[in-house]
Amino acid sequence: MTDRLLRGRLLTFNREPQGGDDIDAYTYIEDGGLLLRNGLIENQGPFADLVSEAPNVPLVDHRPHLMLAGFIDPHIHFPQAQVIASWGSQLLDWLNNYTFPEETRFADPDHCARMASRFLDQLITHGTTTAVAFCSVHKASVDAFFSESTKRGLRMLGGKVLMDRNAPDGLCDKPQSGYDDSKALIAQWQGLARNGYVITPRFAITSTPLQMEMAQALAAEHPECHVQTHLSENKEEIAYTEKLYPNARDYLDVYQSYGLLGEKTLLGHSVHLKSREISALAETGAHPVFCPTSNLFLGSGLFDNAGLRAKGISTGIATDVGAGTSYSMLQTLNEGYKVLQLQGQSLHPLQAFHWATRGNASVLGLEDRIGTLDQGTEADIVILNSRSTDAMALRMERCNSLSEELFILQMMGDDRAIEEVYVSGEPSKKPASPRADITQFLAHC
Ligand code: GUN
Ligand code: ZN
Repeated sequence: MTDRLLRGRLLTFNREPQGGDDIDAYTYIEDGGLLLRNGLIENQGPFADLVSEAPNVPLVDHRPHLMLAGFIDPHIHFPQAQVIASWGSQLLDWLNNYTFPEETRFADPDHCARMASRFLDQLITHGTTTAVAFCSVHKASVDAFFSESTKRGLRMLGGKVLMDRNAPDGLCDKPQSGYDDSKALIAQWQGLARNGYVITPRFAITSTPLQMEMAQALAAEHPECHVQTHLSENKEEIAYTEKLYPNARDYLDVYQSYGLLGEKTLLGHSVHLKSREISALAETGAHPVFCPTSNLFLGSGLFDNAGLRAKGISTGIATDVGAGTSYSMLQTLNEGYKVLQLQGQSLHPLQAFHWATRGNASVLGLEDRIGTLDQGTEADIVILNSRSTDAMALRMERCNSLSEELFILQMMGDDRAIEEVYVSGEPSKKPASPRADITQFLAHC
């Protein structure tokens, strides 16, 4: 690992901003420096101080761009890179018509390996340095995902989906095989390099009560692992869940009654919640995850962030690719802003950028390692160019503050605004290669 000294406009969050005037919530240094050593941020501060401390370290000058912690995406589906933009249906039909057939392709380890490499390329291209991924039901998909993340030095979390009913045969495990495969994967990957295993019952509809018992056993045996699933995304899904689990008090109670709720639990969507469910989320410390592009794309509904926050619940924000329509956390914040606007909730850009970095890190319980540019944390860094398109450059001519600049990035930015990405201190963004697309297109003609 090479030591590096980065120079640029440094922004990092110390806690969640309460609003635009909450200047103690963040540190902004106009001429900032980051000293990277052994994959960590050895020091940060004014550039002049750092350069005198490390005069011989190779310098990378990123001025006038912003240096921020890498984005964190706490809900995404690795096998759905080729499902994004599938037309015309809502959740259950979308799963049956597009997603399940696509995921059956991950029975082939070669396909898993190719997709893992392309998927992680996409995350890095879009500035995401940590994600929490649903893999497919196949063990090989998890092996490919973590092999690739290990090779790249990424901090990644993920797990094999447990699903033993209401899906094609090629996509169903059995309660015992799902348990055994998960155990073997935990033994192999949990804590290896920067990887974390996530126990992953897909959702109540695709797991029998016996499989839920197995998920409960896994969670009890492995308190070091996170748990992820889906909750109350779509009204038909909720009605079907209540039919399949007639003794549950509500949808959340399916997971609660199997001991799956705690501070390490991530619940994608959580759109249509009843008041008992909200109280149970607050009591157990489980985290709803807002997936705005997905909720809009599938017509699922509006996530009530302020309502949940008012009850002391801490929420994440995520892409949910492939129902989500972009890998970009900037675009996710853009659509998130609009969804909250529809409910009279105005997400301030300082809060938005905190959410996608330190906020998501703290939902994962990892804010001592990722999500900030604090000394001693892991050197996952994104360099943001607020003038990356003509339209943005034109708009930036009239920009008067850091908050305004962040809002421009949030509303207008995408992968073009990601100038560089450091993973464990190493520059990792590949140059865009439009030639490859043209070659492929010509080959098909
Ligand atoms: N619920 C169960 N599986 C899925 C999935 O793959 N995507 C979404 N958006 N919701 C789900
Ligand atoms: Zn999902």
